[in-house]
Amino acid sequence: MRRFSSIISAIVVSFLLMAFYSKQPSDKKHEYIGVKKCGMCHKKEKDGAQLKIWEESDHAKAYKTLQSAESDKIAKELGHTTKAVETEACLKCHAPAHNVDAKLLGKKFKIEDGVQCEDCHGAGDDYKSMKVMKDRAKSIENGLIVYEDEAAIEKQCITCHNEESPTYKPFVFAEKYAKIKHNIPKN
Ligand code: HEC
Ligand code: HEC
Ligand code: HEC
Ligand code: HEC
Repeated sequence: MRRFSSIISAIVVSFLLMAFYSKQPSDKKHEYIGVKKCGMCHKKEKDGAQLKIWEESDHAKAYKTLQSAESDKIAKELGHTTKAVETEACLKCHAPAHNVDAKLLGKKFKIEDGVQCEDCHGAGDDYKSMKVMKDRAKSIENGLIVYEDEAAIEKQCITCHNEESPTYKPFVFAEKYAKIKHNIPKN
């Protein structure tokens, strides 16, 4: 009986510790929740259909691209000895969250989703609730990354769309941005 209750209290204590640590704000690293979860609230046509626009963009298949024979060939030519999909020098742009600590990846997060919402907007576990999302300042406080103007947006694109990409094609911002733009319609 004694032994049983000490097991129970050990369990209770560890739950309390977990609750305590998971509630630490500020310096805590935000968790990734994955496109499925962002998409639950960002799929309606009248709100801008962000999920669908992303699904139809090349960003959604960026990881899968690395699984092709063409990618393996590119990697080999550059002197890499691993398959493209296992090569850091490819994953860094095609699946930026590949090296995030597994503890920070939610159950629905999938590396196969390539360049996804949270790679541009910040890991979302702490801003994903309706209450926080409706408050822009609170969302930012909880990890949402926003872009004040087109110059800031272009700067973000160029972190990947640059000559370090083995297949680099000149990045004409206005033209490329029009292909993935997914703003909330103003009424
Ligand atoms: C529970 C529903 C919900 C979830 C889940 C959710 N959002 Fe939102 N999001 C909203 C609402 C509501 C707004 C505010 C819309 C408005 O202002 O018209 C918003 C606004 C935004 C904005 C605009 C911020 C601004 O003002 O510039 C971005 C970007 C965004 N969400 C990204 C995400 C991402 C990325 C995820 C997943 C990590 C996510 N959202 C998950 C409901 C949600
Ligand atoms: C984290 C890296 C990353 C960022 C940031 C990024 N992209 Fe991409 N983008 C890629 C990769 C990788 C591909 C190629 C995907 C594939 O074909 O497998 C791509 C493909 C594209 C394509 C389709 C191919 C083409 O060149 O027409 C467009 C359009 C595009 N991105 C626009 C943008 C815009 C606009 C931004 C900034 C808002 C942006 N991207 C930010 C990694 C990124
Ligand atoms: C390649 C980078 C990139 C990806 C991937 C991406 N976004 Fe965005 N998103 C942006 C940029 C840049 C803006 C424009 C910011 C602005 O106008 O304030 C934006 C705008 C938004 C807005 C509207 C903000 C507004 O006020 O109109 C929402 C909502 C949003 N994104 C949600 C998502 C969701 C959900 C996903 C995934 C399904 C996603 N984004 C994927 C870069 C990205
Ligand atoms: C600096 C970021 C970056 C790195 C590193 C990177 N890519 Fe890409 N990759 C991109 C972008 C952006 C695109 C789409 C636009 C372009 O090709 O300029 C792309 C497109 C591709 C495409 C599709 C080309 C096409 O014709 O549609 C393949 C295949 C590819 N990358 C393979 C690789 C492989 C293999 C590696 C590693 C050896 C790699 N990439 C490293 C950013 C990158």
